[in-house]
Amino acid sequence: MAIRGERGALAIVDPSGQTPAALWTAAFDPQASSDTEIGGVPSYLGSLVVAPNGREAALPSLQANIGEGAFLKPGSALEFDTTVRAVVSYFDVVAGAEVAEGRKQFDGRGLASAAVYSYFGDYLFVATRGARSVERIDRFTGAESSSLIDVGFAPQGLALSADGRFLAVDAYLARELVVYDLGEFAENTPPLARLPIPSVEPLAPQLLQGKRLFNDSLDPRLSQDGYLACAHCHLDGDSDRQVWDFTDRGEGLRDTISLLGRAGAGDGGIHWSANFDEIQDFEHDIRGPFGGSGLMSEAEWQKGSVASTLGDPKAGLSADLDALAAYVGSLTEERRSPHREADGVLPAAAELGRALFESPALGCKNCHSGPRLTDSGWIDPGVPLLHDVGTLGPGSGQRLGGALTGLDTPTLHGLWHSAPYLHDGSAATLHEVLTTRNFGDLHGVTSGLSAAEVEALVSYLLCLDGQID
Ligand code: HEC
Ligand code: HEC
Repeated sequence: MAIRGERGALAIVDPSGQTPAALWTAAFDPQASSDTEIGGVPSYLGSLVVAPNGREAALPSLQANIGEGAFLKPGSALEFDTTVRAVVSYFDVVAGAEVAEGRKQFDGRGLASAAVYSYFGDYLFVATRGARSVERIDRFTGAESSSLIDVGFAPQGLALSADGRFLAVDAYLARELVVYDLGEFAENTPPLARLPIPSVEPLAPQLLQGKRLFNDSLDPRLSQDGYLACAHCHLDGDSDRQVWDFTDRGEGLRDTISLLGRAGAGDGGIHWSANFDEIQDFEHDIRGPFGGSGLMSEAEWQKGSVASTLGDPKAGLSADLDALAAYVGSLTEERRSPHREADGVLPAAAELGRALFESPALGCKNCHSGPRLTDSGWIDPGVPLLHDVGTLGPGSGQRLGGALTGLDTPTLHGLWHSAPYLHDGSAATLHEVLTTRNFGDLHGVTSGLSAAEVEALVSYLLCLDGQID
């Protein structure tokens, strides 16, 4: 389990249930970025693995550099190599604490997804997801000693054979189990076997290609030096629930948005400021902050106003960019809210909240309208409908490098798994959105609500998961 913005947190549970669960934390790293390390918080924690001696444990993850950026620390705009980095944190099992100064950072890798110790515990093998590698760390010196490259798309699991000789890599998006002989561990060692994972491919070829592009950072068209993949902030299409400083992109502090249920551009303008109008516009992020050479040909990119986010359409100009957009567009399903009753109906408090939400006195539906609970749309080509609901602050920054006059109304589906709230993550809870962060009733008329009514409205909002009951 990760606790946003402060530390990575692991709940240690005693299977006998006798003692209360302990909480191990992987601390926020405050260091300034350099060529070899970045600060930030462990995010997307993998599975903890315990060394054969039982005294040390290793935790693979990504380090999200949410403490830097042009607004938070002038002069430290996030770059392709300072936004995220694959890391491994080590724990002293007896003390139940992270080993201070022990966190290992990897050059040219964005997300460490799995780890396994060698038979004697002298090495730790670490899979990196977007960069498609397996790293070998010498546990006596702490240093890296060689790596396997291009093991297959999106490696997300590692296992050692019982005799310690063979390493199996679950290359999830290659749909293969890739087996290496650990007697010959070097960059160009071919695997002993690539075993197809025997199942019928559920995705049509274009969607599989789009999903690979979404999850990959090794392809130099997508990212310079292997750091950034869409999945490194949107694993499984969801949000990492971090707030990123995108001030240097002409925007500002921005809370990551989940892509689930949004069907790509299905909810109208894209991003909090509606600065994009098609998923193919992510070519700008790929060529810009990711440092990639781009999926589109230079000739297409230079045509007309293609190289402007709200200019000529990019759809239909690159098969790979269209595949990426098709995959993001295929994310139409929301996850079922656990706040509903087991049979899916709204609990009584949420029913009361729904009546409040729908009442003209509160006015929520003036903007959160229709089945997707948003009025997002375009007044004129390139001119989005934005509302200033009193939430803009100094960190909100700009829109496309110009004035930010308001925000694109977000859908309210999926709120149960998307805290923190608001474009800049300035509300930790829905309660705050409706109370301390609603100034002068600019964001719906909530000042006259009793505490119980606010809680009822929150209960309703937490149940929204794609359908309107
Ligand atoms: C460094 C983290 C990070 C990476 C990498 C990243 N995103 Fe995002 N994503 C965000 C943040 C933060 C937002 C909100 C930004 C905003 O609104 O300006 C966002 C918003 C979005 C949205 C908006 C959803 C909506 O309905 O408005 C889409 C779509 C999206 N990202 C797709 C992608 C794709 C495709 C890629 C890869 C090319 C990608 N993201 C890479 C952090 C990231
Ligand atoms: C004038 C249009 C408008 C009205 C009326 C309105 N909203 Fe909003 N709502 C917005 C906009 C725009 C945002 C984005 C604000 C931000 O990010 O700072 C938003 C954001 C939200 C969020 C946070 C969503 C997220 O993903 O973080 C919630 C929750 C919400 N509104 C609920 C409500 C409720 C409940 C009401 C009625 C009491 C209401 N809104 C009334 C336009 C409106």
